[in-house]
Amino acid sequence: MHSEGNLSAVKKLDFEEIQSLLKDELATVERSLKEHAGSSVAVIPIISGYLSNGGGKRLRPILVLITARLCGYNEGGGDITHSTVVEYIHAATLLHDDVVDEADIRRGIPSANAKWGNEYSVLVGDFLFAKSFSLMADHSPPGVVQAISEATKFLAEGEILELVHSADIDLTEKEYLNLIFRKTGALIKACCQVGGLLGGIRGEVTGRQMAALETYGENIGIAFQIIDDLLDFTADEKTLGKPVGQDLIEGHVTLPVIHAFANADEKEKIFIAETVKSRELSARRIGSIIELIGKYDSISYCKKMAENHIDKAVGELDCFPPNEYLDALKGLADYIINREM
Ligand code: FPP
Ligand code: MG
Repeated sequence: MHSEGNLSAVKKLDFEEIQSLLKDELATVERSLKEHAGSSVAVIPIISGYLSNGGGKRLRPILVLITARLCGYNEGGGDITHSTVVEYIHAATLLHDDVVDEADIRRGIPSANAKWGNEYSVLVGDFLFAKSFSLMADHSPPGVVQAISEATKFLAEGEILELVHSADIDLTEKEYLNLIFRKTGALIKACCQVGGLLGGIRGEVTGRQMAALETYGENIGIAFQIIDDLLDFTADEKTLGKPVGQDLIEGHVTLPVIHAFANADEKEKIFIAETVKSRELSARRIGSIIELIGKYDSISYCKKMAENHIDKAVGELDCFPPNEYLDALKGLADYIINREM
C-alpha cells in the first residue's frame, strides 16, 4: 500500500494489491466460472473455458467483490455468484462482439469465432447469457435482476448504435459518450450496484452511498472505454493483443479520430473521412491518421476527458467510512487511467 502526499493523504491500492486483497475470493470466482459453464454438450465448456483462460483482467468480478465488501457484505456467497454472473455476461458480449466485428484475434490469440466459427461463438455466448440469468433467478436479492437486465439492454443498444454509426465521421462527441456508456459503462455501473444491493440485504447501505457507487461505476466505465480507444492508436500490437488501428479497420469512429477531425483542415478532413469509410486500410494510411492524431494532440485531449470522468467517479466516495475496500476503489480508478493494455 502507498500513500500520496496530498492533503487528504488518500491511500490507494495498485492493481496487484487489489488482486492480493481479494486473492481467495478471486480463486473461488475462477472455480465458480468453471463449474457453472459445465454442460453435457462438451463443446460449451471448451469454448467458454478458452475465452475465460485467455487473460481477462476480471475487472467486473473485482468490482462486485470490492463494492459488496465496502457495503458490509462478507458472507453467503452472493458476491461469488454475482461475480460469475457479470463475468459470463461480459464473456457473452465478447463472443458476440467478435462476430459482429469480424475480429480474428482477441488478447493476442485467435478469437473463438476464428477458431470455431460464428455459429458456435454466438450460441455459446447465448448459453453464458442464459446461465447468468438462471443463476440470478436462484440467488439474487431484490433489485439485482432489474439492474443487470437494464445493463444488458444498454449493452445491446450500444453495440447496435456502433453499427448505426459505423464509418460515420459525423459522429459527435456527445453521441460517442452516449454510445460508450451503453457499450461499457452500463455493465460496470451494474457491477457496483450489485455490490451495493448485496450489502443492502443487511441494511448497511444508504441512498447516498448507492448513488455514489452508481456515479463511480458509470464514470470509471466511460473512462475505461476512452482509454481503450486511445490505446488502439498508441499501444503496440504485442501489448494490445490485436493490430494497432483495429477500431479504424472495423469502422469504429472513436474519440481520438473525432477530436483530430474536428481540428483538421479541409484537406485533412477529406483524408480522415475517406479513411474511415475504407474497409481496406494500408499500414501507411493508419500511420497517417496516427500522425494527425499526434498533430492535434488528440491523445492528451482523450486522456484529459478520461481523467475528468475518473475525478467525477471518486468525487462522491467519501460518504463511505475509510477502509481498504475504499482504498481499492480509488486505486482501481487510477489503474484504469494509467493502464497500458
Ligand atoms: C467490445 O467493444 C464490445 C462491447 C463492450 C459490447 C458488446 C455488446 C454486444 C455484443 C451486445 C449485447 C450482447 C449480449 C449477450 C447482451 P470493442 O469492439 O470496442 O472492444 P474489443 O476491442 O475488445 O473488441
Ligand atoms: Mg470488438
